[in-house]
Amino acid sequence: MCEQGECKNCLGKSCGELREVPGPKSRELKKDLFEYEGGGTYWRATFDGEDRIPVFERQDNVRQWDADGNEYIDTYGPFAASCLGHIPTGVIDAVYKQAHQLMHVADMPTIPRAELVKELASIAPGDMLGNAVVHTEIGGSAAVELALQIAEYSTPSPQHAIISYYGAYHGRMSGGMSATPCAYYREKVPAIKNDIVRIPFPYCYRCFYGREYPSCDMFCIKALKEMFRSPEYGLYDPNTKTNLVSTLIVEPAQFHGGGVYAPKEYFQGIREICDEYGIVFIADEIAIGMGRTGKWWCIENYGVTPDMIVTSKALSAGVWPLSAVMGKREIMDVWKGKPDKHMGTWHGNALGCKAASTTIRTIKEQGLLGQVADLGAYFKDGLLELQKRQALIGCVEGIGLGLGIELVKDRKTKEPAADATGFVVRRALEYGVLINLSSYYGNRMTFMPPYVITKKDIDLVLDVLGRCLDEAGNI
Ligand SMILES: Cc1ncc(COP(=O)(O)O)c(C=O)c1O
Repeated sequence: MCEQGECKNCLGKSCGELREVPGPKSRELKKDLFEYEGGGTYWRATFDGEDRIPVFERQDNVRQWDADGNEYIDTYGPFAASCLGHIPTGVIDAVYKQAHQLMHVADMPTIPRAELVKELASIAPGDMLGNAVVHTEIGGSAAVELALQIAEYSTPSPQHAIISYYGAYHGRMSGGMSATPCAYYREKVPAIKNDIVRIPFPYCYRCFYGREYPSCDMFCIKALKEMFRSPEYGLYDPNTKTNLVSTLIVEPAQFHGGGVYAPKEYFQGIREICDEYGIVFIADEIAIGMGRTGKWWCIENYGVTPDMIVTSKALSAGVWPLSAVMGKREIMDVWKGKPDKHMGTWHGNALGCKAASTTIRTIKEQGLLGQVADLGAYFKDGLLELQKRQALIGCVEGIGLGLGIELVKDRKTKEPAADATGFVVRRALEYGVLINLSSYYGNRMTFMPPYVITKKDIDLVLDVLGRCLDEAGNI
């Protein structure tokens, strides 16, 4: 409280209190964004439209404040990036110190670069550990492109096709390489690909095949195996033993899909298929990796090791944009002796690398994986309790602090309650809780808060969520 108690921070509302969103200052500030920024941005679409969202001014730990001084608890963790909370001083100080020493050398060797690749390799999963090689990139989309390029380059022709999943999100690039005519650079690069075979993700709550887990006996894996038994599916010709698939890319849990997790046997089946047909198995862990499930990588919860992992977001704790591809040496070394196959002005950026290696060390030193498991279990139990009282909640799923709930009009028919979900997310914003809405049918919310959220804050989030669900039940 300031001396007069009249500044905007004193007048703003605390989490749990209703406020006007956006407030007058936010509305004023947004005028420039409306005037000078292009459309298509996230903020224009979320929270039920571009008019609803406030302008944010400052952050601390799991909270952020808008320009009118209103406080919000953040459960969307800026798309899961701010794993150490907002303004993580340890990482910021390390980056600041680095910035005064060496900042940018455009893809040259530096000490922070060497530190990061070693640090990241030290947390490789399963049998990738001790055999891991890393490349850095800027942003998740670029890292996905890189992983696809390496995967395809490492498999023999005619393996060009990619298997991906409905409900997946892997970023927004490919035009750049398509527009680059140089044959050397374009050689076997999967830019603007036509041969992508999309298959259903094991979204068990709404099984694509109409089965129920576990009595389904993993029918989805059987169905995928079946697709390799006839050339008609475009994956494999058993007569000539011609394999067309280079890569399978999957998010071990789908966050764009709304926090959808595969059953525990699923990735074992995927690993077997990839091994049988020489397909590179890429786990896109950009949203769900780096400790969010209480293990470094979500795929570790399934007891299998992919050939490559793509990471970003939490990798550098939201402090500096950096991404990386980590994979098994025999695949990653495909460009060995081919200089410039992977070059970039910002690759190995000293500040990004410093942010990332400090983030990994902080998670190790502060034992945050255990903390995430503990807090995640607490949060999930709270959501399950809420489900007992709230008929709207059809399903609660997730591991650690990567959770999702689905709202339905009727638990038997599972008719998606998209209107109620939109209402809850918007109303929660008005109570000062930021929740991300994303899903196949507009009816799921994801919870991906910083790993340093407290149980008290989780209680507050659950309380607000409960109130919003009560109100949604009455609309
Ligand atoms: C699983 C996944 N892959 C790729 C991306 C793209 O990352 P970026 O937005 O940093 O380009 C995202 C971003 O949300 C993601 O969640």
